[in-house]
Amino acid sequence: MRRNLLEINDLKTQEINFLLEEAEAFKEVLARPIKKLPTLRGKTILTLFYEPSTRTRMSFELAAKRMGADVSNIAVSASSIQKGENLKDTVRTLEAMGVDLIIIRHSQAGAPHLVAKTVKASVINAGDGTHEHPTQALLDLYTIKDKKKTFKGLKAAIVGDIAHSRVARSNIWAFTKMDMEVTLIAPPTLLPAEVEKLGLKPIKISYSLEEIIPKLDILYILRLQLERQKKGLFPSLQEYIKLYGVNPEKLRKSKRDLLIMHPGPMNIGVEITESVATSMQSAIEEQVHNGVAIRMALLNYLLGGKNEDPA
Ligand code: CP
Repeated sequence: MRRNLLEINDLKTQEINFLLEEAEAFKEVLARPIKKLPTLRGKTILTLFYEPSTRTRMSFELAAKRMGADVSNIAVSASSIQKGENLKDTVRTLEAMGVDLIIIRHSQAGAPHLVAKTVKASVINAGDGTHEHPTQALLDLYTIKDKKKTFKGLKAAIVGDIAHSRVARSNIWAFTKMDMEVTLIAPPTLLPAEVEKLGLKPIKISYSLEEIIPKLDILYILRLQLERQKKGLFPSLQEYIKLYGVNPEKLRKSKRDLLIMHPGPMNIGVEITESVATSMQSAIEEQVHNGVAIRMALLNYLLGGKNEDPA
């Protein structure tokens, strides 16, 4: 039994495969007119988000509700956190009310690890600073498996603001764990130091998106995180768009079945054009859709529910 999911690399390959299979079953439940299971009835799940979120928080909330759990959200801006309560006190207080699982997003890397050491409840990392976003990696793996049927040997490139991206870090681990070949594409100033040491097998670095595109099976585009950037990481936004923004022109020589992915939210017109985001090659909407099923599988795994299907 696993209690927490704090980093993608904590999961063994067998566990990832198990979660992907479970998600497939939950996706079938979600396609039914009555999308409810009683599996987690009696369990209490809490979302504690110190940073904004649309997809992650909503899909965890939906996943928990679909499985019969009670779900509460702490609105950080309206809580005692504003009176100076620290993270440890907050989570101890919440646990005292009988919470079984805390889903936390925080601007500080390692905050979910601190929570996991403080409480007996399960903890899921929903994004910690620029460190990790493990459930994004799980839903991305699920989407790739759904589309490509296999991982082995797939050539994936992650393009954009690698330096500030927790999604990139989780996916470098996730993709290499599943035996995919990973290339990172970014201006040198948006590549973190020693990035080539991440991953379970060697990864490549490239500075040219157009050269790489024809070889790729997956093009994973990152949001340019303007809110986390210091000044001067690239000469101008226009130059970034010219070199690293994905548009139909750059995709002219891509494989027909290239899969375009993006974790969202997107800066349309910056790292991706509207026409690419909504093209036949794009799996971006499916990523969001698959987020609920994979999070149902994870909640079930951590809280030990039996997959009782009432049908
Ligand atoms: N991909 C992702 O984490 O999106 P949100 O910030 O909307 O949760």
